[in-house]
Amino acid sequence: MRVMSGLRTTGRLHIGHYFGALQNFLALQKQYECYFGLMDWHAMTTAYKSAAEISGWTREMFAEFLAYGLDPEKSTIFVQSAVPEHLELYMIFGNLTPMGWLERVPTWKDAEEEAKATDTHNLGRFGYPVLQAADIAIYLGQKVPVGADQVSHLELTREIIRRFNHLYKGKLPEPQPLLTETPSVPGLDGRKMSKSYLNGLDLADDSKVLGKKVRGMPTDPQRVRREDKGDPEKCNVFTYQKLFSTEADRAWVIEGCTTAGIGCGDCKGRLLENIEKLIAEPRERKKELLNNPKRLDEIMNAGNEKARREASNNLKMIKEWMKIS
Ligand code: TRP
Ligand code: SF4
Repeated sequence: MRVMSGLRTTGRLHIGHYFGALQNFLALQKQYECYFGLMDWHAMTTAYKSAAEISGWTREMFAEFLAYGLDPEKSTIFVQSAVPEHLELYMIFGNLTPMGWLERVPTWKDAEEEAKATDTHNLGRFGYPVLQAADIAIYLGQKVPVGADQVSHLELTREIIRRFNHLYKGKLPEPQPLLTETPSVPGLDGRKMSKSYLNGLDLADDSKVLGKKVRGMPTDPQRVRREDKGDPEKCNVFTYQKLFSTEADRAWVIEGCTTAGIGCGDCKGRLLENIEKLIAEPRERKKELLNNPKRLDEIMNAGNEKARREASNNLKMIKEWMKIS
């Protein structure tokens, strides 16, 4: 069973990426043959004006994947733009994809107004799901771990592949989504996590930044004074405790908050410790990798080559089916 997935490299990884994707990738690599892509062409469809920054973000994300334990010996970890076969298959798929299919994709429909405003009402952005279909098909991906927001893309991928198989008597597998329960991760202030709200927690945040961010989180407004009792369910700090903390710590918060046995400072202190437990070691490992560019290059090149071998074999087979080889 082959798993294929990826993240677009539009910026730094934050805790939403960890709980929404990375944690899942780590579990999957134990069980399946996995291909994980750093999707820089996908990043470019919206962030094309920051093209120069994207390669830096891609490199950082690669280092972060490794730092969190994605294992280049077990999985194939690669950069999308280093495997040009993706783009060739994108073109092949582009021709057999009716525009109507793309116009119906919710991520296009819903974003159309915004896209006009942000100058992303472009062909690349319109074809985004076709490129995603090529990403999957070029590795003959069968299972695709994605969030609920990506289900429509995967449906389109299956439609494209079905049409391809029908037209050319091909044997591309129809990939299935691997929908895993991922918790939704709000921003520090309880609103949707968004770059424009400055309410995110980056995996690379150092202890100082992290402390400042957590201490600034709003709490249950009923707890004005230390002796006021609170309700954790009305507090975003508790939402975070649910993500990062153990069962025992959560019980400690509920007991302490509802009886005013602990203060919000104590609660935040414990949360901070628990966040650090998760991110501190990978943060250091990532730094080491970035400080050792030769070694990182070696690992990246090896991953890209491994991906490319597979992609180029599959593209050859695809062209044979199409009788254009
Ligand atoms: N569109 C995906 C996202 O925004 C990223 C992605 C690109 C992807 N290509 C992929 C995911 C292929 C799975 C498989 O999260
Ligand atoms: Fe929120 Fe914790 Fe304060 Fe309760 S004790 S209000 S959960 S920060």
